Amino acid sequence: MNVRSSGTQPVRIEQDVVLARQSARKLAQECGMRLIDLTKLVTAVSELARNTVVYGGGGDMDWQILEDGPRVGLRLTFRDEGPGIPDLKLALTDGWTSGGGLGLGLTGARRLVEEFELDTAPGKGTRVTIARWT
Ligand SMILES: Nc1ncnc2c1ncn2[C@@H]1O[C@H](COP(=O)(O)OP(=O)(O)OP(=O)(O)O)[C@@H](O)[C@H]1O
Ligand SMILES: [Mg+2]
Repeated sequence: MNVRSSGTQPVRIEQDVVLARQSARKLAQECGMRLIDLTKLVTAVSELARNTVVYGGGGDMDWQILEDGPRVGLRLTFRDEGPGIPDLKLALTDGWTSGGGLGLGLTGARRLVEEFELDTAPGKGTRVTIARWT
């Protein structure tokens, strides 16, 4: 697997959620991703970026365009140094929220992508990595 290009952008305030969506859209287009897949990925980005701002106290989005043989993929990592998630199983349950949301962000995002990895611990922040491939 080869990294074609990579970068990082801040996800600190609500406006950064919009910018993260825009970047993800542009990068997915660069990958030649089908519109349906691009739309799924951008929706997941929205949810994860919003969680980074709302619960993580802000963080960053790392992106990589990957090549694996004929396939091209976009991998995105949302990381923050916020409080972390004490009960991951609960957080990945449909409808569970600690903050008066719908509790569908993480589970929804997980269903919309091909790779989903969540690393978190209380006091250690949260890191969510997602990817979709052509
Ligand atoms: N980056 C994060 N840092 C700390 N806690 C998080 C983070 N992301 C999610 N959580 C916790 O996981 C819970 C579930 O997140 P999820 O996105 O599924 O739902 P929500 O944000 O509460 O509601 P919704 O996204 O549907 O509006 C959150 O309520 C929050 O407690
Ligand atoms: Mg959410």
